[in-house]
Amino acid sequence: MYYPEELVEEVRMKNDIVDVVSGYVKLQKKGSSYFGLCPFHNEKSPSFSVSGAKQMYYCFGCGAGGNVFTFVMNYENYTFAEAIKLLADRAGVALPEVEYSAEMKQRENHRARLLEANKEAAKYFYYQLRSKQGELGYRYLSGRQLTEETMKKFGLGFANKTSDDLTKYMKQKGFEDKLLQEVGLAGFDERSGMHDKFWNRVMFPIQDINHRVIGFGGRVMGDGTPKYLNSPETPIFDKSRNLYGLNFARTARAGNIILCEGYMDVISLHQAGFTQAVASLGTAFTSGQASLLKRYTDKVLLAYDSDGAGVNAALRAIGILKETGLTGKIINMQPYKDPDEFIKNLGKEAYQERIDNAENSFFFEIRMLERGYDLHDPESKTAFHKEIARKLCSFEIEVERENYLEAVADKYNIGFENLRKLVHTYAAQTGLVKPVERPKSSMAKKAAPEESGKRVQRMLLTWLTDEPALYTRIQAYIEPSDFTDELYRKVAERLFADIAAGNYNPAGIISMFEEEEEQREAAALFNTKLEAIETKQERERAFHDILYAVKKNSYEYYSGKLGSDMQALNQVIAGKKALEELGKTHISLD
Ligand code: GTP
Ligand code: MN
Repeated sequence: MYYPEELVEEVRMKNDIVDVVSGYVKLQKKGSSYFGLCPFHNEKSPSFSVSGAKQMYYCFGCGAGGNVFTFVMNYENYTFAEAIKLLADRAGVALPEVEYSAEMKQRENHRARLLEANKEAAKYFYYQLRSKQGELGYRYLSGRQLTEETMKKFGLGFANKTSDDLTKYMKQKGFEDKLLQEVGLAGFDERSGMHDKFWNRVMFPIQDINHRVIGFGGRVMGDGTPKYLNSPETPIFDKSRNLYGLNFARTARAGNIILCEGYMDVISLHQAGFTQAVASLGTAFTSGQASLLKRYTDKVLLAYDSDGAGVNAALRAIGILKETGLTGKIINMQPYKDPDEFIKNLGKEAYQERIDNAENSFFFEIRMLERGYDLHDPESKTAFHKEIARKLCSFEIEVERENYLEAVADKYNIGFENLRKLVHTYAAQTGLVKPVERPKSSMAKKAAPEESGKRVQRMLLTWLTDEPALYTRIQAYIEPSDFTDELYRKVAERLFADIAAGNYNPAGIISMFEEEEEQREAAALFNTKLEAIETKQERERAFHDILYAVKKNSYEYYSGKLGSDMQALNQVIAGKKALEELGKTHISLD
């Protein structure tokens, strides 16, 4: 959904960034800005700054930065559409209704109706758990050491022993039979007519990332079968694209996400403070779920059952994580079966240790592989080594492959050179050519001057956003094309045009960029640390030096392009002239 720029700006301006951020972060005024502990990385002393004048935030520690939209997007892990909705609601700005086709409208209405049915049913189960009939369920959950607070957080409930009380209740609330069947709360057969799908079970509502109930899992309170009964897939319940607990885990900011097998594992982990835990929905982990996780983390810790089935599931999950570009590590649960049992027996400190010592997925794979070989038998041992070599070939980056080679040779007592030969033999056989080495050395050499060129450009832009009136004094010497980085150039173009039009508005500039990475970089442009300079004379000098350095960088940049770029010649001639003049000119900061 695209909103007109004026509307985006209206929403932004009606949400003062200091106000909004204060709702999430404790801020303290320091000079013209506010400071607090950065919510985007772990820190002990505040380097996160919020400027009311610029309507932007910036962290000097981790480089996170942007305007009020970026903040909400990053903090809540929202898309732009979700963020603007939140902020529009907050400021009482009405967003235009999305124009849907009749068909889409109908589908949306239907989905909304299914969601309402689930919400109503969840409420019903919730109250049942706390009523006389639900006592058994409440005792079961308490017996599993869940606190009232935890039961409430996860909205746990109870489905009565009677076979149609939910159906009756829902009907009375206006939900028709067909809908109840479709959403998986009721079934129908000739003999008994409409009947509840869940009965005599404790109920786990399954929520999407926006806390909407999309389905249920129900557990028997003893040893009956099936142990868990889950809602079927429906238009609102896609088991391959949702994860239990993600509605809470997505803002946990633990630096990782723990993926487990069961609902009870997630709940126990959250209760113990590991609010980054999620589980798949009674089905195997899918690549859709991996992509979902990638929105929130790049590190997934697997906490699968320690039995055979759990190990196989973990091995499959590792493959999926790899394909998605996520690093997987495995939490060792021994001697317990799952996180729930582990925590119940050994407590959260012990679990934290297991998290800290989670095993690299490659070593886990090799260790599991080893179990299939008899290392006392030379033939079997050779086969094992060959298999290791084959696996090593999957590392495309040479350094990484060599590092793993070294580690695994060491661990399994294999001669390093022998294993390496084996890897090369394999690589040659399977056509894995040596990956082209990236020209790292030359990049590194070039980085230094390029970085300093960019740094002065950032300093100039920051200075001009701090004191926009200065622009009129230097506009004869500088133009957007002097900013040699494309993003910087775009920002300068807009900034200069805005100032010239008397419409100075740096936070609005951030919204020009769609990609989060660009927004962050643009915010950095306005928040480069300028040294505190005391005397006016020194300040003028510093400003002059920065301006001169930007101009000189630009001159050198275009000189380097002479011969390949027709435009460059004009730039060079004009640049030389400006540099000469600038060398003789005093620019007053008064
Ligand atoms: P507790 O036994 O209550 O501790 O649950 P658990 O989470 O440890 O159960 P388990 O490891 O047996 O199962 C893990 C997950 O698989 C559950 O959370 C369910 O999502 C799913 N599951 C387990 N049993 C069944 C079943 O009988 N049917 C279906 N459809 N799913 C099941
Ligand atoms: Mn369990």
